[in-house]
Amino acid sequence: MLNIIIFGPPGSGKGTQSEKIIHKYGLIHISTGDILRKEISADTELGKIAASYINHGNLVPDELIIAMLEHELSGIDSSSRGIIFDGFPRTVMQAETLKAILARRKGRVAIMLNLETDRQELIDRLLKRGQTSGRSDDNMETIVQRLNVYESVTAPVINFYKSEGCYRGISRTGTPYEIFKDIETVIDSILKEVS
Ligand code: AP5
Ligand code: MG
Repeated sequence: MLNIIIFGPPGSGKGTQSEKIIHKYGLIHISTGDILRKEISADTELGKIAASYINHGNLVPDELIIAMLEHELSGIDSSSRGIIFDGFPRTVMQAETLKAILARRKGRVAIMLNLETDRQELIDRLLKRGQTSGRSDDNMETIVQRLNVYESVTAPVINFYKSEGCYRGISRTGTPYEIFKDIETVIDSILKEVS
């Protein structure tokens, strides 16, 4: 299985690039943010708890996220081509747990792709999206908190994957298509190594 993490701050293009990766490489998409938003729409117990964190730009507690992820993975056969993890892991604890969960399935993370984007560009993109997205967290106050949480709690995950030897920074600016060209080069080189 080709397991990829698409990583980066809010608005860096994780969802946009995931779609392109899925289309080209046939991977299964797990976006913890999308799953949580579905739970909120369905007004489940998990959704109610998640909303109280998401609406303020804070992270949902690790235990809830990990239980949700394990449930999602239990429906995925290990004969599938692989998984793209979008928005997970977001803490070092989540990264360590993912390593253990995949090891139990005789798998591992092949690449962690970090979408590096300038802070002002992130704010501009999210405010623009907020005009039509209906996302409760796409407003200035919550965006600033999301970015601060990213810097303090999530960015340290980068060092975890550097030490695992699978970190790749994607520093290109440009259109989603141009950024995807760089991502393709990285994924294709990994596929060549394993074939
Ligand atoms: P999540 O849904 O993961 O949101 P996020 O990380 O804040 O990121 P976004 O989805 O807003 O942005 P993105 O990077 O996907 O960019 P996109 O492609 O949409 O998480 C939401 C919340 O859920 C968290 O705050 C937390 O509370 C909770 N949560 C989720 N996972 C969790 C976890 N593991 N642990 C704990 N809590 C968790 O692009 C953004 C915009 O920019 C779009 O409009 C797009 O069209 C545009 N765009 C993209 N690329 C470009 C480009 N190259 N040029 C110009 N515009 C572009
Ligand atoms: Mg997203």
